[in-house]
Amino acid sequence: YYIGIDLGTSAVKLLLVREDGGIENTVSKAYPVEYPHPGWSQQDPRVWWDAVRAGVRELIAGRDAALVRGIGCGGQMHGLVVLDADDAVIRPCILWNDGRTEAEVAYLNEEIGRDRISSLTGNIAFAGFTAPKLLWMRAHEPGEFARIAKIMLPKDYLSYQLTGVHATDFSDASGTLLLDVEHRRWSTEMLDICGVSEKQMPALLDGADAIGTVDPNVARQLGLPPGVTVAAGAGDNAAAAVGCGAVASGSCNISLGTSGTVFIPSDSFRVDAQNALHSFDYIEGRFHLMGCILSAASCSGWFLGDILRSEDFDAQERPVDPSRVSSDLPYFLPYLMGERSPHNDTSARGAFIGLRADTPRSDMVRAVREGVAFAIRDCVDVARAEGIEIRRSTLCGGGARSALMRQILASVLDIDLDLLQTEQGPGYGAAALAMVACKDQRDVQTCARDIARIKETVSPDPELTGAYEQRYRIWRQLYPALRPIYR
Ligand code: XUL
Repeated sequence: YYIGIDLGTSAVKLLLVREDGGIENTVSKAYPVEYPHPGWSQQDPRVWWDAVRAGVRELIAGRDAALVRGIGCGGQMHGLVVLDADDAVIRPCILWNDGRTEAEVAYLNEEIGRDRISSLTGNIAFAGFTAPKLLWMRAHEPGEFARIAKIMLPKDYLSYQLTGVHATDFSDASGTLLLDVEHRRWSTEMLDICGVSEKQMPALLDGADAIGTVDPNVARQLGLPPGVTVAAGAGDNAAAAVGCGAVASGSCNISLGTSGTVFIPSDSFRVDAQNALHSFDYIEGRFHLMGCILSAASCSGWFLGDILRSEDFDAQERPVDPSRVSSDLPYFLPYLMGERSPHNDTSARGAFIGLRADTPRSDMVRAVREGVAFAIRDCVDVARAEGIEIRRSTLCGGGARSALMRQILASVLDIDLDLLQTEQGPGYGAAALAMVACKDQRDVQTCARDIARIKETVSPDPELTGAYEQRYRIWRQLYPALRPIYR
């Protein structure tokens, strides 16, 4: 067996995967996000570790634990985890969708300059990236900042708890804005700008490299056999792409979790004209471009769950007729946490537009799904403007469970969407990385090809693509029109 761990924002999901790729068991442990101020979001790394400890025991209960050979972690990217000299957590992790660093982002992009930052790292600064969070900590929590002995990313904290080794992988390290992505080394100049040194950074490894084995005491606590290998793992989007078989150049993976991402692997390093997409490392020497919208499945979670107080999302979506696309339908902007790609605007806000006295609930439910699809389209269009053809994509994440979402997205993007046997992309990909780290599979591409199985393809509805194209053109005008209101 291999254990794939997906350290998500709303829950940690653990998969027990057999050598042939079959999923033996799945466990999910939810935890909350703290929003101590509007636009801030954080979580205590110790809560993640407690959830993982309980989760692993539950995952292997009643199974032959002696058969577990490897563990891989994929996790929410960009989060700033800081440890002191005793490896104790200094403050809660500042998450990928936290918007507190507007001033620091302006400093990096405007004072140091976008071109400089991009030439050092391959990217410009976005509020969720790790480097601006370090600058924020230095300005607002100088005492805590001075105590930082190690900086890590969320899933690396789990690997550290398992092995005692401080290490990260290139895909996740890319999202710190401290890595020279093209040359795969920490950027001394970016570290200087943020007032930290290479000593405080974790070791850099490929996602499918082994970082060590599970510490014997931890193994006993978790009920694991001695000598289980831990892979370096990957950022959740890279792990998801592996899990969906999107490894080679020419493939694409779309993930609809709390965030929504478009992940485009590439054999060579490239940056888009506006730096609107992230230009990150992947695995085994590859790179990728990625668009990330901050609120995807979380928009339905908010509207259907928090506002309509429904637990049965399918029931809410049943009255929606996806084939009726008319001009009296309202629009929705999904910027509940501000927006990353392509706007890079922490002040952006969500909105319903075009409501009428006779707007039924089902039209609003539909508008929420459609608004998320349009925001994903914004990212896909940046890639298309770069000459990258996207004709089909795999689709994973909790949002992929909605038949309505799948149909709208395929028609809005005008591409085929391949659904895998499991929508748990990151955990499945992390298990694949563990197989390679254990040397039970030759390389990640072969492994992904062996185990990622397509179960169904959703095609665009030719009758609808034109109608959605028109609605998208109108929707695209809404963000620039509303932007001045929230500035
Ligand atoms: C990617 C990003 C999100 C998180 C979600 O840049 O910030 O997709 O990784 O967990």
